[in-house]
Amino acid sequence: MNAPIKKIVLPVAGLGTRFLPATKAIPKEMLPVLDKPLIQYAVEEALEAGIEDIILVTGRNKQVMEDHFDHAYELEKILQEKGKSEALDIARSMLLEEGRISYVRQMRPLGLGHAIWCARKLVGDHPFAVALPDDLIKGRPGTLKQMVEAYNTVGGNLVATMNVSREDTSKYGVITPGERSGNHIAVSGLVEKPHPEDAPSTQAVVGRYILQPEVMEHLNKKAIGAGGEIQLTDAMAELIGDQPFHAIEFEGTRFDCGSKIGWLMANLSLASEDPMMANEIRQLITFR
Ligand code: UTP
Repeated sequence: MNAPIKKIVLPVAGLGTRFLPATKAIPKEMLPVLDKPLIQYAVEEALEAGIEDIILVTGRNKQVMEDHFDHAYELEKILQEKGKSEALDIARSMLLEEGRISYVRQMRPLGLGHAIWCARKLVGDHPFAVALPDDLIKGRPGTLKQMVEAYNTVGGNLVATMNVSREDTSKYGVITPGERSGNHIAVSGLVEKPHPEDAPSTQAVVGRYILQPEVMEHLNKKAIGAGGEIQLTDAMAELIGDQPFHAIEFEGTRFDCGSKIGWLMANLSLASEDPMMANEIRQLITFR
């Protein structure tokens, strides 16, 4: 039996330069899509997948995320006094039991791989999930739940993938696909941001992973990869051959909310499904 996935690492220490000046004082992961910050979508997706322990890898200027998952006593008191029970419930909705959410600091943003490595002591000797909060994926069930279900069958390591156009492969980690069974694809190679001509396929990795703890040993080498950063993809690639490694072509729509267009599309997409907003959104898109 595969050890259950009970922990998730959410790296939130990046600089968010594509969203400056909005991200000068506010973390990118606190940008709202409609009424919820990106980090909350990621935590909700993890809870839906049965994950119990949430580990945030934070950096400077990220303390506001700790406040988001804590009581806001003054606000709660005022809402209570005014009898605004619905707003009070919303303000309290993300209060996890104490001890279930922990924070570790990445002191310098040396790359995604380095951010995950910073969580090694909290992860310990357990398989764990990773989600990048700026990848918002609309899907039912959520992508992490789809992955945990797949993991319970195939075990080992998993990445969520989607098919992209060949010219876009240079923006993603890309798999060398092996045998396919339903939506599971055996992975025989992984490369970060390949030149489109060199890309081994058009199956691109998006920000959801299930990893075995041995990935930390490879991250420990702190090898510098694409873009001069310590890449998670490079450490994952070293697991291939030693451990099962699969890609899951998830069901859902992914928005890259680290980019302005992706964030805008996510807002429009969710708003167009909200009965209170759908008509106005449709009119705006059709007539302007
Ligand atoms: P990105 O590369 O999208 O984040 O990393 P970024 O560097 O913040 O964005 P830009 O390119 O400057 O606009 C994906 C995820 O990995 C985290 C980010 O916070 C984001 O959730 N990350 C990235 C870290 O935690 N540490 C890093 O050193 C790099």
